[in-house]
Amino acid sequence: SSSSSSSSPSSTHLLRRSFSSDSNPDRKVAVLGAAGGIGQPLALLMKLNPLVSSLSLYDIFGTPGVAADVCHINTRAQVAGFMRDEQLGMALRGADLVIIPAGVPRKPGMSRDDLFNTNAGIVKSLCSAIAEYCPNALVNMISNPVNSTVPIAAEVFKKAGTYDEKKLFGVTMLDVVRAKTFYAGKAKVPVADVNVPVVGGHAGITILPLFSHATPKANLSDEDIKALTKRTQDGGTEVVEAKAGKGSATLSMAYAGAIFADACLKGLNGVPNVVECSFVQSTITELPFFASKVRLGKNGAEEVLGLGPLSDYEKQGLESLMPELKTSIEKGIRFANQ
Ligand code: NAI
Repeated sequence: SSSSSSSSPSSTHLLRRSFSSDSNPDRKVAVLGAAGGIGQPLALLMKLNPLVSSLSLYDIFGTPGVAADVCHINTRAQVAGFMRDEQLGMALRGADLVIIPAGVPRKPGMSRDDLFNTNAGIVKSLCSAIAEYCPNALVNMISNPVNSTVPIAAEVFKKAGTYDEKKLFGVTMLDVVRAKTFYAGKAKVPVADVNVPVVGGHAGITILPLFSHATPKANLSDEDIKALTKRTQDGGTEVVEAKAGKGSATLSMAYAGAIFADACLKGLNGVPNVVECSFVQSTITELPFFASKVRLGKNGAEEVLGLGPLSDYEKQGLESLMPELKTSIEKGIRFANQ
């Protein structure tokens, strides 16, 4: 370009500024469902993220208040609130990343699949708008049942001709966050050092934490591993029951969503070796979608990493989750095409 071949002092200065490591590129993030239990603390956490230059908060109601509140925080992101269908386009236009926590949460006694009837339609209409207004954005799907809403999103994008499998992510980060916390407690290792991959899907037994890969290594008994696995799988239900009808995990989910969004933004910005678990289009099993470690880059999911060696207990877990995960994926695909 002309500026890079020029040696005038002012253009050298401009050049240095645009490539310096402490000036992050502009990134617009949209949160759909931003006035909800997850949406509000997620809006707060994204406002605190220095990688975000523009934060767009959309919901069917309540976003002017959330936006007015969050925008007083003295951090980089410019905040705007959008409400109702007619403002959805403005909320999405130019977004690099769209995070979707829109929809109803569980009440005690409900499975994530019980949310399907309400949330499937919400996700379908939001994804149609994404295809229209920001077809190149990365999408982080939080709305449950993730095992079905991600396939729904893929079908909507395919129909619109905008599908890029590298750009669609089911957010399973909360399962990872829980597995790390529970493992650290049991293994008595510093929680900040802990890594545990969680694979499969995001509901009940489809959540498969790989404690055989957990670091730092600890000598846990088979019983301990079983209890940790069960607690990770039932973590969401633990919160649903404790909240006794007032919803499901919102604060820990907002944290997990913010961590995953940050990883996506780092990938977009070219930070090397950003690897997190997510439910993505996959060929590592016979199922079309599967959660595993994913390398995030400038185009989204640059590489879907394989499972590696599994313990016998994990092999069993993998085998028993496949039929349920398959059914949930097919249910999403069928809904999107009906
Ligand atoms: P909430 O009911 O507190 O908030 C949902 C928000 O979505 C509300 O503000 C509502 O107005 C909004 N909304 C509904 N229809 C909409 C539409 N068409 N467009 C935009 N916004 C719309 O629910 P909460 O607790 O925030 O949970 C949201 C979703 O996240 C649920 O489906 C829940 O199951 C899921 N979830 C997922 C987790 C995960 O690990 N992936 C963990 C916890 C919850």
